[in-house]
Amino acid sequence: MNKLLVSLLLTLGITGVAHAAGDAAAGQAKAAVCGACHGPDGNSMAPNFPKLAGQGEKYLEKQLHDIKSGKRQVLEMTGLLTNLSDQDMSDIAAYFASQKGSVGAADPKVVARGEELFRGGKLDQGMPACTGCHSPNGAGNAAAGFPHLSGQHAQYVAKQLTDFREGNRTNDGDTLVMRSIAGKLSNKDIEAVSSYIQGLH
Ligand code: HEC
Ligand code: HEC
Repeated sequence: MNKLLVSLLLTLGITGVAHAAGDAAAGQAKAAVCGACHGPDGNSMAPNFPKLAGQGEKYLEKQLHDIKSGKRQVLEMTGLLTNLSDQDMSDIAAYFASQKGSVGAADPKVVARGEELFRGGKLDQGMPACTGCHSPNGAGNAAAGFPHLSGQHAQYVAKQLTDFREGNRTNDGDTLVMRSIAGKLSNKDIEAVSSYIQGLH
């Protein structure tokens, strides 16, 4: 077989693999390096490192591709994904998706306002409730790629909402869903809804 044909077959093979479902068992070993920040099972201890445990596989895979390509900038992860293939990222996504996410606690001082925003949105400003896409218990919609939010660190959530609002996280797709929603949230709103999410289950 000539070299061109071999590389063509390899390319086709890799493309085929990219669409294969992730293998959680294989992903566990490949995720060892991630555990330092995200926790070995995806339940990170530090509030600025997102929990990945129980996150939807499709959402995780999209973020990994976006982080790798630089569409979403995560300085802490610079170079970490460079040598991972599409299959590696599918496997890692499947591994973290198969783990159980832990839940934190909400700040009682802001929980009522947080719940109001999460469940009711700001209808006067045309901002829909978070429940519509992230579901009433914050579990998200794995098939649609809407992320699981419940139990996520408030500090991380608040940073994401601020980043969406300020145009520092722009990988939410052509419809700008989160950028337009976060644009309607004040700093106080963000603090309240993020705290509520941390305790939601
Ligand atoms: C040095 C710490 C560090 C390491 C190691 C690390 N990450 Fe991250 N990761 C981060 C930080 C910090 C963020 C969030 C950045 C932000 O605030 O937007 C993040 C975000 C993510 C996200 C997006 C989560 C979400 O909810 O949107 C995914 C997915 C992710 N990391 C996967 C991985 C994988 C897989 C590995 C291992 C190959 C890894 N990370 C290694 C620090 C790290
Ligand atoms: C119309 C659907 C929709 C609504 C309503 C919605 N979201 Fe989202 N949200 C999304 C999608 C889709 C993403 C993933 C964007 C991406 O792919 O990067 C997301 C991402 C997020 C993230 C980032 C998660 C992570 O792990 O980094 C947070 C936080 C978030 N949403 C909070 C909220 C809050 C709070 C509300 C209500 C005020 C809300 N969302 C309303 C669709 C929605």
